[in-house]
This record gives sequence, C-alpha cells and structure tokens, in this order.
Amino acid sequence: MDRPFNTRKFKPEDLNQVIYINQICLPENYSTHFFIELYNNFPETFIVAEEEEKVVGYIMCRIESGFSGLGLIKRGHVVSIAVLPGYRRKGIGGALLKEALHAMAAHYNVKECYLEVRVSNVPAINLYRKIGFRIDRVIRGYYANGENAYLMSIKLD
Ligand SMILES: CC(C)(COP(=O)(O)OP(=O)(O)OC[C@H]1O[C@@H](n2cnc3c(N)ncnc32)[C@H](O)[C@@H]1OP(=O)(O)O)[C@@H](O)C(=O)NCCC(=O)NCCS
Repeated sequence: MDRPFNTRKFKPEDLNQVIYINQICLPENYSTHFFIELYNNFPETFIVAEEEEKVVGYIMCRIESGFSGLGLIKRGHVVSIAVLPGYRRKGIGGALLKEALHAMAAHYNVKECYLEVRVSNVPAINLYRKIGFRIDRVIRGYYANGENAYLMSIKLD
C-alpha cells in the first residue's frame, strides 16, 4: 500500500528539525552534542520520517553491551522517538520503530532491544505492544517529575 511518508537515515542537516520535534513532543530534551554523538556512534539506527520533504518524526537509539544468562550480549536501546502531533496515527511511529529494530539486528548484530516509557503514556505503550514489546518491570521514579517507567523489551531473533 502506498503511504504518504517515507523513512530514511538521519542526516546532519535534519538536526534543527529533529531538535524542534523533540522539544514539541517530549519533556526529555537534549543538547545538540547529544544528538550528534548518537548519530556519529550509531548512524544506522537514527532514522527520520518525511512527508512532502518535511521531517515529521525521528527515532534515535544506542547500542549497549550487558550481561544476560547467555553471557555478554549487545542490546539496542531506544533513546527517543517522536512524531509531530499533526502527523500521528498514520503508521509513522510504527514504521520508524520497525526500521530501527531491523537496522539494529542487521548492522549491529543486536539480539534484543529495550526502552523506558512513562506508565501514563498510553499511545507509546500501545505502539510498543503492537510491535511486539513486552513489559519487563516498573522502574520507580525514573523520570525527573518522579513518574514511574515501564521497562519494555523485545527479542530480535
Ligand atoms: C508514541 C508516538 C511516537 C506514536 O506515533 P504514531 O505515528 O502516532 O504511531 P502509529 O501511527 O504508528 O501508531 C501505532 C499504534 O500505536 C498505538 N497508538 C498510537 N497513538 C495512540 C493513541 N493516541 N491512543 C492509543 N493508542 C495509540 C495504536 O496501537 C496504533 O495502532 P493503530 O493506529 O492501528 O490503532 C507519538 O504518539 C508521539 O510522538 N508521542 C509523543 C512522544 C512520545 O511519547 N514518545 C515516546 C516516548 S517513550
């Protein structure tokens, strides 16, 4: 089916638009340096969505190493995902997330991915569930305002 948007890898010239979307959509805002560092280290999993040549959404991720029952494994971490309000609920968030998960496995040999989400953020929790994430546990007081987070994860095999 034809969709009105496309996804592609982030380019440095998208930076201002991505920072704008982040500030409009989320209370967790970052320095310019933070965005660029994620791009420099993990360019394959920093993805934007465009509609009529305007950047309307992004996802950025980190690849981390940690221990599991299987020894040292690499995990993907969704650091931030957002879609501008006027462009929501038409599949952009889902497309960004699927593309980032695919890139994690394909380029960084990642076997699982995790993220944190506010327990009150029903749209995001529903999106993650729809893609296949499961809630592992609650992280108490994770956010600056004291709100709890769900830790959610998905296996990529
Ligand atoms: C979460 C967010 C990225 C979703 O983007 P989106 O482009 O609207 O997502 P999609 O259109 O791909 O939605 C996929 C599914 O998510 C769920 N969903 C999305 N918005 C929802 C809403 N407002 N209420 C309930 N479920 C919702 C639905 O299951 C939806 O599938 P459906 O449309 O077939 O019912 C977007 O709402 C957003 O930017 N929110 C603010 C930033 C944010 O909270 N980021 C996550 C921080 S952890």
